Amino acid sequence: DIPNEGKISCSAPSNIALVKYWGKRPVQLPENASISFTLDHCKTETTVWYAKKEEAGNTFDFELFFEGALKPSFRPKIQKFFERVYPYLPFLKQYTFRIETSNTFPHSSGIASSASGMSALSYCLMGLEKKMHPEMTEEAFLKKASFLARLGSGSACRSIEGPVEVWGAHADITGSDDAYAVKFPYEIHDHFSGYRDLILLVDKGEKQVSSTVGHDLMHGHPFAKQRFEQAKENISKIKEVLINGDQDAFIKIVESEALSLHAMMMTSMPYFILMKPNTLSIINKIWDYRKATGSKVCFTLDAGANVHVLYPEKEKETVLEFVKKELVGYCQKGQYICDKIGTGAKFL
Ligand code: PMV
Repeated sequence: DIPNEGKISCSAPSNIALVKYWGKRPVQLPENASISFTLDHCKTETTVWYAKKEEAGNTFDFELFFEGALKPSFRPKIQKFFERVYPYLPFLKQYTFRIETSNTFPHSSGIASSASGMSALSYCLMGLEKKMHPEMTEEAFLKKASFLARLGSGSACRSIEGPVEVWGAHADITGSDDAYAVKFPYEIHDHFSGYRDLILLVDKGEKQVSSTVGHDLMHGHPFAKQRFEQAKENISKIKEVLINGDQDAFIKIVESEALSLHAMMMTSMPYFILMKPNTLSIINKIWDYRKATGSKVCFTLDAGANVHVLYPEKEKETVLEFVKKELVGYCQKGQYICDKIGTGAKFL
């Protein structure tokens, strides 16, 4: 049954990797498994209006509005996404789409909006697919939504569900797959429930290097093989840690992963540094604070200068106080975002 017209709205969050994805094979398949916390507050809200064409042509017909304004500059990305997912969503050429999208976090804050944006769009399109195939199970729906999101932006596949997602086939994670992310299939220790992620906006400038270029630079990278091995080992280790609640071991894995990611960038050809002096000042302050207080706070980084400060829920007041007193001064215009782990995409 093909609906004539209507709209579907959903929201999808960003996510922050604990073990990083950096390096891929065609088409958007990861060189190593990665694992992430799904966020709650940082998200994209998308509405897809669809209207059946008189005659299905051979083109993708869509208009894209970002925060209320027509955005021609986003078109090529969506065009490419439609081309990639078309074999799996054959109805795409039968409709004209109007896509309206906005983010809850400031634009060009240096927070990657491709993860939340691509997962929101995929989830909306799956809403339409579900109308045509109402018999589809919830499990099949979520798998395919994640699969489509992956074709938009690799890490986006980890934003469909939460609170902890694994993407990439790994012997120690039951059900894991290169083609889509799955929910961490084991019980997570109480220490990690309600975990916080406070994002310090150190540098809001455009990224010097896109993640596409970054992934490509892992081809022929002198340390690629060792890096993929390290990530694989860290997945095995963090699996145990998430189950047994060992927070000191968690800190070691997560901080080492962040620095290894940036080490790959610093040792590629061409080489680049995405951290800023303030990034390093913040990291040192976090280490000092942890030493002085026994706190379980730690940091991680994405492909940028911003610092994600991770800590248990029970430290939420004390760490916020520390951030306000010691870290806000290193942020651009004193900006930071308080977030925590969340449950993934949903229809609105
Ligand atoms: O999803 P992409 O292709 O933008 O890659 C993102 C990679 C990192 O954010 C740096 C790490 C990760 O696993 O999310």
